[in-house]
Order: sequence, then C-alpha cells, then structure tokens
Amino acid sequence: MRSDTPVTISRLDYQPYPYLLPNVELEFDLDAAATTVRSRLHFQRKPDAPEQALVLDGSELELVSVSIDGQVLNADQYELGSETLRLFPGSAAFVVEITSVCKPAENSTLMGLYVSGDSLFTQCEAEGFRRITWFPDRPDVMSRYRVTLRADKSRYPLLLSNGNLLHGKDLDAGRHEAVWEDPHPKPCYLFALVAGGFACREQQIRTRSGRQALLQVYSDPDSRDKTEWALESLARAVRWDEQRFGLELDLDRFMVVAARDFNMGAMENKGLNIFNSAYVLADPESATDASFRAIEAVIGHEYFHNWTGNRVTCRDWFQLSLKEGLTVFRDQEFSADMLAADLPEAEARSARAVKRIDDVTTLRIAQFPEDAGPMAHPIRPESYQEIGNFYTATVYEKGAEVIRMQHTLLGEAGFRAGLAEYFHRHDGSAVTCDDFVAAMESVYTRQHPGKDFEVFRRWYSQAGTPRVRVEMEYDQAQGRCTLTLSQHCEPAGIEKLQTPPAPKPPLHIPFAIGLLGQDGRALPLAHDGQTRDTVLLELVAERQSWSFDGVPERPVPSLLRNFSAPVIVEYPYSDTELALLAGHDTDPYARWEAGQELAMRQLLALVGAIQSGQQPQVDPGFVHVWRTLLEDRTLTPAYQARALTLPAEKILLERTSPMDPQAVARARAELRSVLGVELGESWLRVYQACKAERQEYRPDALQSGRRALKNLALSYLMAGAHTQAPKLALDQYYEAANMTDRMGGLSALVNFSDTPAAAQALGHFYEQWQQDPLVVDRWFTLQATAPTTTVETVRALMLHPAFTLRNPNRARSLIFQFCINNLQGAHTPEGYQFWAEQVVALDRINPEIAARLARAFDNWARYVPANRDAIRQALETIQSHSPLSRNVSEIISKALK
Ligand code: PHE
Ligand code: ZN
Repeated sequence: MRSDTPVTISRLDYQPYPYLLPNVELEFDLDAAATTVRSRLHFQRKPDAPEQALVLDGSELELVSVSIDGQVLNADQYELGSETLRLFPGSAAFVVEITSVCKPAENSTLMGLYVSGDSLFTQCEAEGFRRITWFPDRPDVMSRYRVTLRADKSRYPLLLSNGNLLHGKDLDAGRHEAVWEDPHPKPCYLFALVAGGFACREQQIRTRSGRQALLQVYSDPDSRDKTEWALESLARAVRWDEQRFGLELDLDRFMVVAARDFNMGAMENKGLNIFNSAYVLADPESATDASFRAIEAVIGHEYFHNWTGNRVTCRDWFQLSLKEGLTVFRDQEFSADMLAADLPEAEARSARAVKRIDDVTTLRIAQFPEDAGPMAHPIRPESYQEIGNFYTATVYEKGAEVIRMQHTLLGEAGFRAGLAEYFHRHDGSAVTCDDFVAAMESVYTRQHPGKDFEVFRRWYSQAGTPRVRVEMEYDQAQGRCTLTLSQHCEPAGIEKLQTPPAPKPPLHIPFAIGLLGQDGRALPLAHDGQTRDTVLLELVAERQSWSFDGVPERPVPSLLRNFSAPVIVEYPYSDTELALLAGHDTDPYARWEAGQELAMRQLLALVGAIQSGQQPQVDPGFVHVWRTLLEDRTLTPAYQARALTLPAEKILLERTSPMDPQAVARARAELRSVLGVELGESWLRVYQACKAERQEYRPDALQSGRRALKNLALSYLMAGAHTQAPKLALDQYYEAANMTDRMGGLSALVNFSDTPAAAQALGHFYEQWQQDPLVVDRWFTLQATAPTTTVETVRALMLHPAFTLRNPNRARSLIFQFCINNLQGAHTPEGYQFWAEQVVALDRINPEIAARLARAFDNWARYVPANRDAIRQALETIQSHSPLSRNVSEIISKALK
C-alpha cells in the first residue's frame, strides 16, 4: 500500500538499462510462511554506458545479505529504499549475490510468490518478480536462468520451473531438490515456479521438424479427469501454429498448471504456463459449451505467446499491445479455424462469422465504452501510474483489431510474410510496436510501391473510436454508384480536458463494402481490374470518394463487411433497407449487423417511450424481421442464435444520451417479452427441434449452436410467459445431461420466474455441485445477475459459507457480476454505495482486482443526473479512504478529473 504522491511514467522517457545480465542463478528454500531466495546475478556494464549505480527493484522483501564478487556489503555500502536497492560496483563485470526473504502465505495480492490451496505459485507479469527478489524488473533485461528449488517433499512433492529439469534429488530432513535450466534468454516477467502435489495428464508430440516434445497439464489430483480438453486443445494449438504461421515449438517440454487463485486468465511463462483453473478444467457435466471454447482460446493464446511475446518480447510496458494485440488476433483466428474445421464450406463460413460476431460483441461491450470514458488510451498508452491498470480491452481487443486490419490490408500470404520478416529481424530481442509495423510495412510497400504505413501507424497513438460517415449517390443514366467516406474521431479521455483539443489526423481505415440490388441479390463490383462481391476501400484521408460503374439499379450498400475496422459507421438506412440486408446480405457478419441495428432502433424507441411515461409500442415490421430470421432454415443454429439475440444492455446503454440504465434494462426486457409472445409458437417449434437432436456431447459448432438456439428459444418462451415454458425449463434443468443444458434451464427459471420452483432448483443445484468451485461460481453469477436481485440479496449471498473475497473467481462471480452486469440491481444509490464499499474492502486484499471493480462505472459523467450524482458520491467515498493502492487511486483520480 502506498499513499505517496502518484508518479506518472511516460513512454517517451524510456532509457535502456545500462547493464546486461546474461546469466541468473536462483535458489529457493520454499516455505509458505517464509521463503528464502538466493540470487547470483552476472552483470556486465554495457560498453557505451558510463560508470553508474546499479539500481534493482524490490518490494515487500526482507534483505538478509548482499555481496559483490564475494565481498559482503555493509549497510553503508548500498542504499536500500522502499522500492529499490542501489549498489555501486567498482568494475564493469561483476557478480551480485543477494539473499532475501518473502512471505508467500501473507501475500494476498497474488503477485510474486503466493499460496493457493496447498501449493505455491508465482505470478511475475508485469512487475511481480520484484516481490520475489531484488532485480532489474523490466522486460528489456533478458537472461538465461538456472533455478534450484528446495522444499519439504511430502508437502511439495513436485517442484517445477521454466525449461528443462537437470536433476532432482532427495535431501536431509524430508526435503528434496530440483534444478531447472531454461536455455532461452527471457525477461523476469516470464519466470515461474510451482510447488505442490499435482496430477498430470500428458502427451508426446512430434513437431514439424521431427523433434519429440512432451505436453503436460497439471491440476489438483481431484480434477485430473477434467484436463483432457485442455491437453487436446494444447496439441491442436501446437499443430495450428506450425501450419498457419510456420512457427514450431522450441522446447522439449511444455507445461500448463491450473491454479484456483489467479488474478487473470492465464500467464505465458516460458515453458510453464500458469492458468486460472477456469481456463483448464472442463467436462461436459460441469462446463458449458462457452467454457470449452474459452479454454481452447486461452490455451491457444498462452501457447501462441511462446513466439509472440516470449521469443520476441516487449522493450517496455508501453509496448504491451505488441504481444497482446497480436496474440489475441492469433487466438481469435485459431478459434475460428477450430470451429470451422471439418465443416462443409457454407457451414464453415457461418462458423467463422459466428466467432467474428462474438469478438465484435466483446469489443463493443468492453472496449467502446472504455474508448468513450475517462480511462481512454491508445493501444500503446502514453503514460501510466500503475501498469497493472493497462491490461485493458483497448490494449487487448482493440490491439487485436489493429493487427487484424494489417492482416486485411496485406492478405493472408502477405501477413504471413510480414510475420516471418518480424521474426527474422527481431527473434530473441525486446522490441516496440513500431518495429512490428515496420516489418509489416516492408511487405505492404512491396505489394504497393510508393505506399506505406505512415497513416496506419496513427492507430497506435490515437485513442477514441473513429466514426466513418458514408454517403451514396446513384446516377441512373450512367449506372454509376459513388460512395463517399469521411472520418472523424472525438477527443477521448484526457483529451477532453485540453483546450483547444489536440488535432486528430485521419487514420488508415480498411473499409470492406458490397452492394445489394433491391431484391437482395449481390451486385458484383469492378474495382482494381477485378470483379468481386466485396471490395476493400482504403480510407486514408478525411474524405474520399469511389465510383463503381455498371450498377444497374439503385443499390443498398453493405458496409464495413466482416467488421473490417474498429469504427462506428453512420449511414442513413431506412428500416426497409436494413430489413433487406438482415434478410439477404451475402456477408454473414454484415447481415447480422443489419438485424442488430434494426433491433437497436426499436430498443431506443422503447427507451424514449419509457422515459416519457408512454406505453411502449413495438413495430410489427420489426417482429416480422425476427420471425423471418427464426424461420430461415438455411441459417446454421449458432448463427441464428446470434441473429435472434437482442443487442446487449451495455451496447444499448452506450447509445442512450444521457445514459439511463434502468430505462435500458426495462426496454430490453419489454422487447424480449413482446418477441416471446408474438413468436411463441415458432420459438416452441425451434425449441423442440433443437431438443430432438441427441448425440454424444461435443462442444463443436453444430452441437453448441443447437444448444445455444434451444436455450435462447427457452428464454424467449419464458419472457413471453408461454404456458408451457416453466415446465420445459424445469424438465430441462432436472433432466440435463450436460452443464450447458442445465444452466440453460436454470437460468430461464431464475431470470424469468421468481417462483418457489426456481428457488428449489437453485437449492438443488448448490447441493449437487458444492464440491466444484467453478460450478459454485456459476451459481453465484446466476443469482448476481438475476433481475430480481438487489443489494440485499447480494449481501445475504456474501454471508454464504462458500463466499470469500480472497478468491478472485469467487469475488468476480458475485460482486463483479452484480455491479457490472445487473443494471436493475446495481444502478441504484444503494448499489453504488455497495460498490464503493467492496472496492475499498478488496483493495486491502488485492489491488489489481480492486482496480478492476473500481472501473465498473467509468462513464458515470454521461449518466442521467440522479445516477451521475450518486456515482460521484460513491467515487468520493472511495477516494476519501486512505491508504488506497496505486492501482485504485489511479482509476479513481482519473474518473473524478
Ligand atoms: N500476459 C497474460 C496474457 O494475456 C495476462 C496476464 C497479465 C496474466 C498479468 C497475469 C498478470 O496472456
Ligand atoms: Zn496475452
């Protein structure tokens, strides 16, 4: 905890570290209460660096001794600050030896060395290594590590670290030792150790060049039967990276370990990935289709970091998107390819579109609001107080969109060539986002002589979601259609406080379009000497026009196909045009988008009616569009499930001004119930048809699509109060053979009927699953997000014996889910005060987690006055607490600026 004045770190202040540290030896005497760490650090001053102090980072450590070249230093020979240790070496090459002690059992931050269950784990990214020993804790210092682990053998039978096991042996007094060596130089944020009793599931694979490698997944002994999917996913990830990008596993052994207590999703430590158990453990009875896909995605993500992040890493933390944006893009493509694998072409295309729709939905729910709020930052931030606060949707998800745009501009082969060039130039080093773009640009310039990425680079330095306005002109006599695109981007985040606002020059926006005839046929377009249904326009100026000849009738434009850029499109469609696109667009993404936009118009009209106290009316034309989608048998069930889902409350909220969470929640519920009533018999038919299919469980595109559509139909039937719905939901709940169906039944009951039967099913669920923490998390989440849940309900749940704030998954399942995803319950004066209380309580335990909760109402200033004022009060309540962590105080002070 710190209460000193905040220090802001700026990207442009980067200075290289003056020393090289090629070799690091570490010895751990592991013990939960007090672990002793001895380091031997082989430093060399860089040839161009003047003689100067050696500055090491450290936090929450007890220093036992420090020596240089074997000479133990007296206290007057070094300077020990609260966060640094300064040494004054007398030569250019020297060995520093430090002995220090840290206290894993007292470490509730889950950064550094900590206890989870009966085991010991580390988490070092971004700045956790300094909680293990004094060290240059920055990603541009790369070293070879040799690690000796010693511990009581019965408590900690397994001792793991990065790289290869050199040897293991028994010691006196029931202790044992393992020595690991990682042949690949790495920054300390990729260091890891694990000690404890685990079960292992493993598989030998042969890499493309014929090397043998061992893949291992470690879990609690009780959970071993839930690690099959994770191990299979890992094997598929290895194969996929070879095939799609030519990148091969560079290790003899690749380990994944599941931890119950983990701040994030998972961590890509070299050869020893540590995972939140939620992204490892699954079987059909306890995990949903969504969990299976999420496990595959995260396993892939961490594995792909082995190249994009580990082999080539970040020079400094401002470059975080270098590895995260790129690796998210790679995991998105991996997931899409896996979903589409083995399907006939049309279904494969639909499966890929479903993945794209889900990713865009995530972006709109999490990133667009961030770009419109006080924490807005470019994907490469310019400054921070606490780097832990910049593991954001912008760095990750918008970062992935920026990589995807480069992929779109270069094409698959060009992108692959650019990636090869990137590794050719930078393998084994710590680099910047600019270095990545330069490698991609070299291919682009080869493809388009005279063109470059100068304008494109601005995506790395500009915050805010750009808007692209489209105008269309049609000249009947000449058969010519002209599209004019213009772009602008409002000031974002702190830019709003600047007068006059800093100019925002135009960006390079790949904008994919098509044209449809009035009957919904695709009109092929002649462009760049080719004729295609989809054309990629490259908008690089504030305003540009393109003309297409041979267009026989006034067309309907299909815009931003496949969401080719992270922008907001403005075009004055009529409802009829949107209905046409929703029914016929040949680009499945744009088709979905048109339906969503129609629904959005309907929802906004309902919000307006609710706000002015009128009776909300639903347009029959809209119901007709939904009926057409519901009855279209050419669509895959997974796609239909997305097409028939109304825009998320969060997305709707962003479109109201001022933002009115209660009206938004009511409007969405109202429209859902109207659609439930009006289309009742169709929902029932679709429900029965999806239910009829029975096969051995697989979380593949077809089966999970059917389950998604079935559960959606059930929720509409409940929303429409169909007479058969409660019985269908109860039967589905009690008779389910897998968790997707069970949760579908239970959530239909809990979300739409506040009945004794629902309460009874909830009780039954807990009885059945209380031994499985990940399922208990689902139980808390379901209640946290139910529309009838209030602050009082949540307080009561916090008294449940299974609740604890100390486990991040559990805190998220109840507190975060309520504050972030329960508009009705949380957006009340009591809700906001409850939130403030929990931020403060969590901050005492785990600042990283507290700071995430602190962002729940980032956009408070745009809310309707009653909510806005109540949130401001709650923010002030938090701010008045002292001490606050650097994490939370950065968030709160930016929110209140
Ligand atoms: N680097 C991890 C990932 O995205 C995320 C992470 C960050 C995990 C910080 C833990 C702590 O793969
Ligand atoms: Zn990552």
